[in-house]
Amino acid sequence: MTPREERYGDRLYSHRNPGEADRLGALARVFDPYSFERLRPLATPGLRTCDVGAGLGTVAAWLMDACREQATVVDLDVRHLGGRGFHEIQADITEPAFTPGLFDLVHARFLLMHLRERENVLARMARWVRPGGWLVVSDAWDLGPASSPCAAYRETAAVASELASGTTGSDLNLGRSYPRPLAGLGFTEVGFAVDVPPLHGGGPLARFWSGTANASRPALVERLGDATVDEALAYLADPATQDLGIAMVTMWGRRP
Ligand SMILES: C[S@@+](CC[C@H](N)C(=O)[O-])C[C@H]1O[C@@H](n2cnc3c(N)ncnc32)[C@H](O)[C@@H]1O
Repeated sequence: MTPREERYGDRLYSHRNPGEADRLGALARVFDPYSFERLRPLATPGLRTCDVGAGLGTVAAWLMDACREQATVVDLDVRHLGGRGFHEIQADITEPAFTPGLFDLVHARFLLMHLRERENVLARMARWVRPGGWLVVSDAWDLGPASSPCAAYRETAAVASELASGTTGSDLNLGRSYPRPLAGLGFTEVGFAVDVPPLHGGGPLARFWSGTANASRPALVERLGDATVDEALAYLADPATQDLGIAMVTMWGRRP
């Protein structure tokens, strides 16, 4: 028997890890305004919504407010989702038999990129949308670091991306392929948008990136040495830094 492959949340990025809530909080602070802008035209009162891989629940809370209906949240670990009025489901969505029900709007942000079974999961998520309803999916495009003027940041980010792919099967460039997967599932009114937030030294996107690097620091140091990793982290903490980090690509479509 081969050992089970490591998955998102087993060790790396587990909600049990100190610092993980801060890392996800920084991510939400940067990308929530963009997500809300994309969801606003679709999220009307009375819609039943589901946020898959809900993390800290910031998008689900916004959906619940916009639609004035209880939102369903699904996550491997729901410790940050309690007491907010959500219908909480703790589940591994890669389980083929798992279904949370049927919804008017299903949303997933920065989730598929971390799943090896992303194609099957997207096809299954599409079936959780009622005919006429919307599926909205956002994932990363690792746009900024590769062209950064700071070599230490460039190199550390490139190795971090390779490590994420080799460890949990994450694809930090999945968003670059959007919106083709939704069109391929027969969805109509398919659209997409690319949001590229600026990275300010010490700001939330820089803190998210530093938190991600620190989560796999021993492996980064093994490849690059302490000096390069420390230089990249110092660059990200320096208030004079003005650069780019990950971009977010959001695709949406309507189930026929
Ligand atoms: C990068 S975080 C994104 C959180 C949130 N969607 C956001 O954008 O702020 C990925 C989330 O997906 C959850 N997740 C990862 N794999 C999962 C799986 N197989 N089943 C359910 N949830 C999963 C994680 O626990 C985590 O909360």
